[in-house]
Amino acid sequence: MKIQSICCIGAGYVGGPTMAVIAKKCPDIKVTVVDINEARIAAWNDEDVEKIPVYEPGLPEVVAEARGRNLFFSTDVDKAIDEAQMIFISVNTPTKTYGEGKGQAADLKWIELCARQIARVAKGEKIVVEKSTLPVRTASTLKDILKHTGNGMNFQILSNPEFLAEGTAVDDLMAPDRVLIGGDQSEEGLKAINALVEVYARWVPKERILTTNVWSSELSKLTANAFLAQRVSSINSLSELCEHTEADVNEVSRAIGTDSRIGPKFLKASVGFGGSCFQKDILNLVYISRSYGLDEVADYWEQVIIMNDHQKKRFAKKVIRNLYNTVSGKKIAFLGWAFKKDTNDTRESAAIYVADHLLNEQSKVSVYDPKVTEQQIYSDLDYLGSRSSEENKASLSVGSDPYKVCEGAHAIAVLTEWDEFKTYDWKRIYDNMLKPAHVFDGRNIMDKKALKEIGFQVHSIGTAD
Ligand code: NAD
Ligand code: UGA
Repeated sequence: MKIQSICCIGAGYVGGPTMAVIAKKCPDIKVTVVDINEARIAAWNDEDVEKIPVYEPGLPEVVAEARGRNLFFSTDVDKAIDEAQMIFISVNTPTKTYGEGKGQAADLKWIELCARQIARVAKGEKIVVEKSTLPVRTASTLKDILKHTGNGMNFQILSNPEFLAEGTAVDDLMAPDRVLIGGDQSEEGLKAINALVEVYARWVPKERILTTNVWSSELSKLTANAFLAQRVSSINSLSELCEHTEADVNEVSRAIGTDSRIGPKFLKASVGFGGSCFQKDILNLVYISRSYGLDEVADYWEQVIIMNDHQKKRFAKKVIRNLYNTVSGKKIAFLGWAFKKDTNDTRESAAIYVADHLLNEQSKVSVYDPKVTEQQIYSDLDYLGSRSSEENKASLSVGSDPYKVCEGAHAIAVLTEWDEFKTYDWKRIYDNMLKPAHVFDGRNIMDKKALKEIGFQVHSIGTAD
């Protein structure tokens, strides 16, 4: 089957960029991205391409090229399903917040809704592609639901997990390390796999397109995120030991990273990893392992999360300890709120938890982030439910000028590694702060020596102060 029409359900951080790149690379394939969120679709269709809802370097250019030609954003889900040969499901799969598996299992209600909608609408031959990250064996649930279609649909289910990282999504999609496609190993299944392979082969070298059975593909996605997050927790655990022993975690990272078996990436100590997926996917892995009675496996991976929570808390405690054990009424300026640079995504960002801890100690927090809106920051804090919305508004302020945000502060906490923070006029910032003026660098990006020369007390992750 040669694919000429694709529909993607879910116009989020994955659906939007992924489909934009497919549309760019395959001008003869009609790609329609649909979502039930009308505001999101309106933003994707905004005439001003800089206003698309996902901030991602290079994405506006890709959208500008393909939108209206063979890339469309719509809220008409039924029509898009009906017209497409291949349907990607790219909806959210957050951690369950209720019932059985609360706090660990993935909430698959949006996936199931999609499957039921496909079952209701689709006719003829369809290939349904799991793009969302899903627990291993979800394809069998999808199959069960799709089997009960009244329309005599003939379908195949593929797993095609996405490995892009936010902030570098366009580059990752244009030149992926690999594309993974899992499918049924029957003749029909292999045909479906091949149809998707041919889409990617338009720009991805064939040797980078891996094909497996469905279950390996589903589990590989959880495994990849677990391994990546584990590296961050591993180096973060050692950052604490470094702080007690005068070893420097940056030097340790460099020293071990040159071992080709270990490699240099993902060894940056930090205030803790965030993002929508690492925590949720590991919790899911833990839940699945426990559900098979594999307690040792579950405990092993759970430790990655325990260490990450510890790292975030440890950072907040360090701020308090260095401000004479009280931050009550003291202004602490946050540089950065996003979970990493070059994205406006704040899901599970360490900044949220550090702020929450400091607010519990009655600190006044003021925040500057180049891409995150004030509304998003308040909504992140309110979501924790630690205090009322009004209390959050009274204790935390958001500013659009970093110099003003730092004015009169006792301390600055660098929570995101935005490049612009390095080039600020730090003498000007110092002159307008209370003394002693502290910088807590949660990303180890600042020039420690230069800041100390200005007069700052500088505290990094994983080095003795
Ligand atoms: P997101 O929340 O940004 O987007 C999901 C979208 O799906 C939302 O806009 C929502 O309105 C829409 N949606 C939900 N149910 C729907 C339905 N029934 N019909 C139509 N639209 C519906 O989520 P995301 O970050 O794009 O993640 C999507 C999936 O991809 C998740 O499973 C995630 O684990 C996985 N993933 C995410 C990343 C990432 O970097 N964000 C990377 C790889 C994989
Ligand atoms: C991660 C994976 O890298 C992607 O391959 C995957 O597709 C995606 O999750 C997903 O499934 O959602 P992402 O979360 O967007 O991508 O960003 P990362 O670059 O992995 O960073 C995650 C977090 O770890 C960030 O908070 C980052 O600051 C932190 N990190 C990363 C460190 O603290 N140190 C490092 O060395 C690397």
